Amino acid sequence: MKKFKKIILAMTGASGQIYGIRLLEMLRDLDSEIHLIVSKPAVLTMSVETDKTEDYLRRLADYYYSPSDIGAAIASGSFKHDGMVIAPCTINTASSIAYGIADNLIARAADVALKERRKLILLVRETPLHQGHLSTLLKLSQMGAIVMPPVPAFYAKPKTVDDLVNHTVYRVLDMLGFDVEYERWKGLILKDKEID
Ligand SMILES: Cc1cc2nc3c(=O)[nH]c(=O)nc-3n(C[C@H](O)[C@H](O)[C@H](O)COP(=O)(O)O)c2cc1C
Repeated sequence: MKKFKKIILAMTGASGQIYGIRLLEMLRDLDSEIHLIVSKPAVLTMSVETDKTEDYLRRLADYYYSPSDIGAAIASGSFKHDGMVIAPCTINTASSIAYGIADNLIARAADVALKERRKLILLVRETPLHQGHLSTLLKLSQMGAIVMPPVPAFYAKPKTVDDLVNHTVYRVLDMLGFDVEYERWKGLILKDKEID
């Protein structure tokens, strides 16, 4: 049976591994075909931040690649997919993509997504940002990437960290074109006297 959407998900070594993990879990629930690449620093950061293991991620993915597997199908523009997400995305990986340094499968698949005009969503996590970071992110945006730092929104009145994480992940799924239900901003209900 054909899966709903084919998605490439990469996780790199920035803080916020939970974003990649949650996205993977939700993509699994949405019955998509998941092509997963996890950098070595991501595995390290995941061990610091969560109780999840690389094995757990591997089990949820349909295809699991090493970042050194530069000959994988997803390294080619002839591999058609519905979008690539890097969550979380380091400055290191964002910089490689911005300057076309495609020496690992994550940067190569992202480079290919851009050249083939496919969707590339980058949950870049670093703070504060110096001018070099900012110009890299501007360059990525100008090249067609969606630069989406995982900055939480508070209007949905989150009560838990999970609420915050899920809201951002739902926004990513929205961007990938999935039909998902979550707490959307419905506009302010103003009292009569406040309208004019
Ligand atoms: C616990 C931990 C947290 C880190 N957090 C960040 C971060 O938020 N943003 C970032 O750009 N790099 C962060 N780093 C550094 C990256 O992991 C490092 O630059 C690494 O070389 C990135 O490689 P990758 O892009 O292949 O995953 C962190 C490293 C560790 C160990």
